[in-house]
Amino acid sequence: MSIHISAKKGEIAKVVLQPGDPLRAKYIAENFLENARLVSQTRGILYYTGIYKGKEITVGASGMGFPSIGIYSFELFTEYEVDTIIRIGTCGAYTTDLKVFDILNVENAASESTYAKYAWEIDEEIISHQGNIFNTINETAQEMSLTAKATNIHSSDIFYRKDPAIPAIATKYSCPAVEMEAFGLFANAQHLGKNAATILTVSDIIPTHENISADQRETALRPMIELALEAAWK
Ligand code: ADE
Repeated sequence: MSIHISAKKGEIAKVVLQPGDPLRAKYIAENFLENARLVSQTRGILYYTGIYKGKEITVGASGMGFPSIGIYSFELFTEYEVDTIIRIGTCGAYTTDLKVFDILNVENAASESTYAKYAWEIDEEIISHQGNIFNTINETAQEMSLTAKATNIHSSDIFYRKDPAIPAIATKYSCPAVEMEAFGLFANAQHLGKNAATILTVSDIIPTHENISADQRETALRPMIELALEAAWK
C-alpha cells in the first residue's frame, strides 16, 4: 500500500495506462482486459490489473491536474516499481487545424506551472516525454494505420479563465492544444528516470466550441485506448 493507492505490492503491473477519469479506467478494464481485478479504490480512484494479449497491464486513474497526477504517478513509480506510465486523455484544441477525434502523441509539454521547479528543481517550462515509449507509440500507430500526430502540448493549471486569448506559453512553444496533466507526469518521470508518454484525443475545439458529446466519448476514445494497449503490450 502507498498513501493514496491501496493495492498490495505486486498487484500493479510494470506498465500502467492512466486516464484522468476513474470510470474510464473501469470501462477499459471491463472491455479490453481479461481477468481484470480491482486492486485499489481509495478516494474512488480506481485501479485494475488484468491481462492484455497475455501481458499483465494495470489501468488506473490520475484524477485531474498536476497535484493529482503528481501524487499517483509518483507512488506508482516509487512504491510499485512501475517502469512506464502512458497517460491517455483528452485535450482542447486552440486551432481549427485540429479536428475533434484527432489523436496526438505528446512530444513535449509546456507549462506556466511551478510544479516541476518546486517538486524537483527542474527549472524548464517545457519537459519532454520520457524514455522510448513515445517512439513505440509512433511505430505502433503506423502499424495500426492510425494517425497519432507528434506534437507539443500546453499543460495548464487552468480550465476556466478570464482572458479568452491563447496563453503566451502555448504560442511560445507552438502548442496547438491544452490539457492539464502531461507536464506533471513528465516531470516525475524525468526526476525518477522512468518512462512516460501521453496520448490525447481532441475532445473540443476551443474557438468554435465544437465538442465530442458525452454519448460519443466511448467510441471516440476507442482508437486511442487500442493504441495505448498495443504500445504497452510491446
Ligand atoms: N481537456 C479537454 N479539453 C480541455 C480544455 N479545453 N482545457 C483544458 N483541458 C482540457
